[in-house]
Amino acid sequence: MSIDVQPISVPGQQSYDDGPFPVVLACQSDDATLEEAIDWVAENKADLEKQLAQSGTILFRDFPLAADQDFDAFIKAFDFENFRYEDSLSNAVRVNRTERVFTANEAPPEVTIYLHHEMAQTPIYPSKLLFFCEQAAETGGATPLCRSDILFQKMQEEIPEFAKACEEKGLLYTNIMPAENDPNSGMGRSWQSTFRADSKEAAESRMLELGYTWEWLEDGCLKATTPVLPAVRVLSDGRKTFYNQLIAAFKGWKDSRNDPSKAITLGDGTPLDKDAVLKAADLAEEITFDVPWQNGDVALVDNYLVMHGRRTFSGTRKVLASLVAAE
Ligand code: FE2
Repeated sequence: MSIDVQPISVPGQQSYDDGPFPVVLACQSDDATLEEAIDWVAENKADLEKQLAQSGTILFRDFPLAADQDFDAFIKAFDFENFRYEDSLSNAVRVNRTERVFTANEAPPEVTIYLHHEMAQTPIYPSKLLFFCEQAAETGGATPLCRSDILFQKMQEEIPEFAKACEEKGLLYTNIMPAENDPNSGMGRSWQSTFRADSKEAAESRMLELGYTWEWLEDGCLKATTPVLPAVRVLSDGRKTFYNQLIAAFKGWKDSRNDPSKAITLGDGTPLDKDAVLKAADLAEEITFDVPWQNGDVALVDNYLVMHGRRTFSGTRKVLASLVAAE
């Protein structure tokens, strides 16, 4: 017997021409088993992918998932190709639970993770993300989600010159990576781990391959600058999204090594219009939906269409994540 799954509405849910954001699907069968849930995903995969491409996010609620292994099995039912953390150039420090499930950013509770598209500040990024709430925080800890196509439309209306400069010039990102993982920073991944290199020479050859420029600092840290990366992405249906890490880099790339005002420039090296960036961040905040995590929730997010972040929290928060490789 197949389980009964129905769309529901939740407070704060948004509505656009193409439907609700996010789509929320609730399992209504009280005695559903994990196996039935997996079968249901496999049977409905095409329809789920269609809804995901339109809305950008599907939140699965009240499905029979409790632990990391359940989440792992649920993900596998979608038959997506895994995006491995080892292959990524992400600057976050992570701990794996299973081959494809890891703890979301390990940064401390009082650190805000600002809105971003996962790894859009590097040439290697995932197409989708899955989050699983193993344990909701005592207070706070929502995952803010923002539709980047809607944001870019608003930017074109309110800060047209800046929107145009971003679209035409792209962006350069610079960050300083420590010589050893620094778990106290939201961007504390070491250069050895980032570039999978055991020597400076190996890191340099990887950076050359990827089009980075760099400078070695006296304390063993590495200051690395990306090649010019696009700030706007055109989806297959023609929608343009503000696909980058501009807001996160500008507001959040701050630790003992990094100064956010130097972390990001336009692709020709000219500085960003600070007021315009802050305006873009405000516009994004206005259209942000906060996922009100309940234990067992899964969110499937289209990384090309929707930005995510993390609100501060108190108590223990265990939100696990998994990434899907680009096609
Ligand atoms: Fe992220």
